[in-house]
Amino acid sequence: MEKILEVQNIEKYYGNKSNLTKAIDNISFNVNKAEFVGIMGASGSGKTTLLNCISTIDRVTAGHIRVGR
Ligand SMILES: Nc1ncnc2c1ncn2[C@@H]1O[C@H](COP(=O)(O)OP(=O)(O)OP(=O)(O)O)[C@@H](O)[C@H]1O
Ligand SMILES: [Mg+2]
Repeated sequence: MEKILEVQNIEKYYGNKSNLTKAIDNISFNVNKAEFVGIMGASGSGKTTLLNCISTIDRVTAGHIRVGR
């Protein structure tokens, strides 16, 4: 299977030390070509933050995302 998306150990924190929001706290997954993936989670669980990081609207605090090859 050809991997088209790799999300590896990403973290996204907003705010600063005294007011820190861990919007994404270490997640990893891959998506293969022709796969459909749904993202489910409660309000505020980080779905939009994840997509913003994948689309480079937002920048990850740690980890890496690889799109394509
Ligand atoms: N720009 C921002 N600055 C500070 N905190 C933010 C920012 N964007 C999101 N957050 C916080 O990050 C966490 C994840 O928010 P996010 O919007 O990614 O969740 P969501 O799963 O998309 O929620 P919903 O289902 O309501 O759309 C929340 O605690 C939110 O308040
Ligand atoms: Mg959202």
